[in-house]
Amino acid sequence: MIKRIDSQKSEMIRIYFEGKVIYVHKGDTVASALLEAGVTHFQNTTSRGSQRGPFCMMGVCFDCLVEIDEQPNQQACMINVYQEMKIKRQANLLK
Ligand code: FES
Repeated sequence: MIKRIDSQKSEMIRIYFEGKVIYVHKGDTVASALLEAGVTHFQNTTSRGSQRGPFCMMGVCFDCLVEIDEQPNQQACMINVYQEMKIKRQANLLK
């Protein structure tokens, strides 16, 4: 479980994950915002379809890839949320 530790009040903005509205803190990364909202499954591996979510939170592991505004392969831990951002889980299915 992820719990916010700062006590400063920040502006809340609206984003969408898999079509559902989530209110998050402005300035948070996509990964931290989704984790705080209880989302831990960000993508599936190409080999076995295993569920993956953020691990390093610093742009190294690539386990946090999501689709943002229809752009695939976006590192959720390196991108800040913005109003009306539309995020989808990345399937990574082999074709
Ligand atoms: S969590 Fe590792 S690259 Fe984003």
